[in-house]
Amino acid sequence: MEQASPPWDPQQVLKALAASRQDLLKLADSLMAALESEKVHTSLAPIFARLYRRIVTIIEEEREFLEKMNHPEKGVREGGYKGLTRQVAEQYQAFKKAENADEQRKVAVAVMEAINGFVVKNSLLWDQLTRDAKGSQVDAEAVEMEQAEGVLARIGIPSPPRILMEISKEMKRDQPDIGKLSGLVKEDPGLSAKVIQVVNSPLYGLRVQVSSINHAVSLLGLKLFQRAVLASTLRNALNAGMDNRKFETFWQHSVIVARAAEFIAVWLKDYEVSADLAYMAGLFHDCAIPPLMAKFPNYGDLFTDGAVSVGQNIREMENNGFNTNHCVVGSLISKSWGLDPVILDVIRYHHHDLLPDALTQNEMVRKLWHVLKITEIITSHLVWKAGGRVIELPRAVAENPVDHVGERVLREVGLNRSEFSYLIEDVEELASLGDIA
Ligand SMILES: [Fe+2]
Ligand SMILES: [Fe+2]
Repeated sequence: MEQASPPWDPQQVLKALAASRQDLLKLADSLMAALESEKVHTSLAPIFARLYRRIVTIIEEEREFLEKMNHPEKGVREGGYKGLTRQVAEQYQAFKKAENADEQRKVAVAVMEAINGFVVKNSLLWDQLTRDAKGSQVDAEAVEMEQAEGVLARIGIPSPPRILMEISKEMKRDQPDIGKLSGLVKEDPGLSAKVIQVVNSPLYGLRVQVSSINHAVSLLGLKLFQRAVLASTLRNALNAGMDNRKFETFWQHSVIVARAAEFIAVWLKDYEVSADLAYMAGLFHDCAIPPLMAKFPNYGDLFTDGAVSVGQNIREMENNGFNTNHCVVGSLISKSWGLDPVILDVIRYHHHDLLPDALTQNEMVRKLWHVLKITEIITSHLVWKAGGRVIELPRAVAENPVDHVGERVLREVGLNRSEFSYLIEDVEELASLGDIA
């Protein structure tokens, strides 16, 4: 087994820092609101208790963070929190002893001032910590990329078949020549058989049996035909050396996510994401899983549901066990297949909670990333029936998809909770009609 990779994730830490700060300010706000309301007697005590608990956990979280970073401000920062905790605790006692609402108010104002003062005084340090964490993040990511390149050099990247390049070239012309396209596919009997098999699978939901490449092109139209060819070649390239049952599950997941991502991109029309890019990102997002399974005998054990990767900590488990993960390897494979750079970035971060700042500024990456995130959550909460197989998915996600997506993601794409439920229903309906799966 290879060496473990960086043990902590600066993105998670940054998120925790920002959340702690927000929490503290929110509690100070609720203290303020309670002060302004008439119910001062009854509502302040629980807020005090929460404030106190929150401050204690913040100290613990940040202490760990500073230790990991070996930050020179360690002592200063911890001291600040200890001082604040002590003040809140003392005031809490004073609050309980207060004789009347006026005295309680006085105590509460003192606490709030202490919190505000603390936040202001520490904001410079907070910014410094954020910058430092980002610095470590850049290092960690460079290391991650190097490790992935090393692994790939040993596995060998499944290369894109030449025929795919030729078809893409033909598709880029103003008037693609259908005869030439089907001719290209027909030149390769193995590929022709595969394309016909893929086209006839329930994944395409056609009601008639397709028996020739010409028939496939006329039924599907050029764009869908190109996709069927792409899917067939990708399938062929990835298939080698992987347990067949797992490969089928993996493949269904990829196609479902591709089709659903495309559908969702169209559904969120004001969000303006290219449906084609969404489809490609979906099809390729997990493409590193089969080669990694073939390379590492125990790699498949990480996935409880066949080869479907859902959830946040999968990347960490891969890093710990195999010194690389399917996100970074997947982005390298997609690069070698000549996919759009936007897709490479989205694949690399598809199991992150947040995109790195630099990528957040890139509108195309940011939007496509959000569409893929939402798609994975929605498709994973459904129990998909594709090709007669049922894929069971993690219960936690199935029970509360909104919580899993997070309000932040919904806000970004401009959906409220009820609109999000409609979207889920529409994707479910498509799935049940067989149009998507
Ligand atoms: Fe994944
Ligand atoms: Fe996935």
